[in-house]
Amino acid sequence: MDTPSSFQADALIAEDIDAYLHRHRHKSLLRFITCGSVDDGKSTLIGRLLYDSKMIFEDQLAALVSDSKRHGTQGEAIDFALLVDGLAAEREQGITIDVAYRFFTTEKRKFIVADTPGHEQYTRNMVTGASTADLAVILVDARKGVLRQTRRHSWLVHLLGIRHVVLAVNKMDLVDYDQAIFDAIVADYRAFAESIGIRDFTAIPISGFKGDNITAAPSANTPWYCGPALIQHLETVDVDDAAAQAQPFRMPVQWVNRPNLDFRGFAGLIVSGTVRVGDPVRIVPSGKTSTVKAIVTYDGTLDEAVAGQSVTITLSDEIDCSRGDVIAAADDPPQASDQFSATFVWMDETPLKPGRGYWLKLGTQTVTATVQPPKYEIDVNSREHLAATTLGLNAIGVAEFATDRPIAFEPYEVNRQLGGFILIDKYTNATVAAGMIAFSLRRAENIHWQPVSITREDHAAMKNQTPRVLWFTGLSGSGKSTIANEVEKQLFLMNRHTFLLDGDNVRHGLNRDLGFTEADRIENIRRVGEVAKLMADAGLIVLTAFISPFRAEREMVRKMLPEGEFVEIFVDTPLEVAEQRDVKGLYRKAREGKLKNFTGIDSPYEPPENPEIRVNTVEMTPEQAARYIIDRIMPLK
Ligand code: ADX
Repeated sequence: MDTPSSFQADALIAEDIDAYLHRHRHKSLLRFITCGSVDDGKSTLIGRLLYDSKMIFEDQLAALVSDSKRHGTQGEAIDFALLVDGLAAEREQGITIDVAYRFFTTEKRKFIVADTPGHEQYTRNMVTGASTADLAVILVDARKGVLRQTRRHSWLVHLLGIRHVVLAVNKMDLVDYDQAIFDAIVADYRAFAESIGIRDFTAIPISGFKGDNITAAPSANTPWYCGPALIQHLETVDVDDAAAQAQPFRMPVQWVNRPNLDFRGFAGLIVSGTVRVGDPVRIVPSGKTSTVKAIVTYDGTLDEAVAGQSVTITLSDEIDCSRGDVIAAADDPPQASDQFSATFVWMDETPLKPGRGYWLKLGTQTVTATVQPPKYEIDVNSREHLAATTLGLNAIGVAEFATDRPIAFEPYEVNRQLGGFILIDKYTNATVAAGMIAFSLRRAENIHWQPVSITREDHAAMKNQTPRVLWFTGLSGSGKSTIANEVEKQLFLMNRHTFLLDGDNVRHGLNRDLGFTEADRIENIRRVGEVAKLMADAGLIVLTAFISPFRAEREMVRKMLPEGEFVEIFVDTPLEVAEQRDVKGLYRKAREGKLKNFTGIDSPYEPPENPEIRVNTVEMTPEQAARYIIDRIMPLK
């Protein structure tokens, strides 16, 4: 098979991305995604693009030719689908999100194509691949026309803010290159595209298998088509950052460059606008201002830099600015808030736990964020709103988010880099969601911290003690309340100022609106944690007796308090023992199925991994356990 000589050979693996981008730094970059299933000929198309740009190693080519002969469905011709699927299978191992990025270069441009499995349930993969794409190629089988999957992909593409859409009507060879069929599909798609807000798209009749209108147009088989070949369109489509450059200046700080004491530069990628030496800038979220002293790059200093460039900026003043901050136009900065509403896709097997703290990464910022129960889930196919209390794998929904400190952002519609974020599970480190900020919730904006004159140290000093939160955790019936009660009695006799927060009691008042679902338990512990913290601020020794079944929430409370103040006490009673005691008869009810979500039966308990204190209630009486604990927390001054 002849390959056009104008294509350069570029064999790459993922680790070489930087080298690849650098080698071709003088060419513009187009990132695109292909949407469609293997049946639509997606693999064949990508295979051909790579093949025609000589992306494939020679030995891989040889293997492909012989593989095609053995397994291929295409007789003697090379089966490009085998190539792509083979690579995908290799990459699947150890990769949670199965998106393969491939690279190829022509004389005019360099390309990164994200290849994502097209199957219905892989919303997350498509979202991952699409989140940085400039363009989407939506593949349609000429014999089948616009399908439910085509509509679904198009909607996701639109939701993710991809402005350029190519409708590639593939397998034209199988419909005798019939113009009427092509026109009918295009008309059908246009009606749908308009209904969801896609304003424009480019339709190209192709055959990935035969090679029509892929690298050279017009194909002799489609004399009625006078538009560009796919690759020509990809090479010339205008994705220049003109729009981004017209926006106000923003640069998220990636790192602070401090090679010696005389130089302090802030390095990052300019995500929008233009910056010039002498420009007034504002650091967000702190709000501090300064002016640009110099703009430094590897190739020397510049007077001006624009969106898409990576630079190091120095400022005229010594002001606080670190990784995660955004340097912005002083008179037109992005918003800073700790609450916002967002649309997000859940990408993990374990569903969203509303109220739990996740890492949220946006731009170069990383903070802890909690998600409210979703306002609704969106049916990916019909776009209808469904009632939801959580989101499972591949579901898309809308919810309110709260971060532990203000972050700089913009609505995703305005700026994808400053409006798109991911959520990471703090324990498994898995990326569990990708989101798009819709708007800031103003409610957080006008509430400030009120400085108080009497500090927590004053409160504690007055009581002549060191505040503590003695956090008892364990199964229902493990003995938490009994032991905590005993500890409080002994502390009381020692003239300590204490207060006991007990699960059963708090659930009659403060938390009477909560039940025992995971979300309610998380909220239960969050509130108790906040109350315990206030009481510790007031100088008290607080004892809490809650099952508190999840590690994440216990850790959250630990982090709310000064180092050393949180004492986790694991009341380690085996399930069999607690069940046998069954003081309240609840285990029996749970076993009989009359009580749902019972801890240890049909709701999980995650034992502490490194509690400060562990008590064994099989070997110790409650009094002994209390003594054991007191011995370990004393002296409390
Ligand atoms: S937690 O899981 O949210 O920390 P909490 O300690 O407040 O639970 O409440 C547990 C107490 O509620 C138990 O000791 C038991 O008396 C009662 N209870 C009622 N239903 C359940 C249930 N489904 N699971 C566990 N405890 C329950």
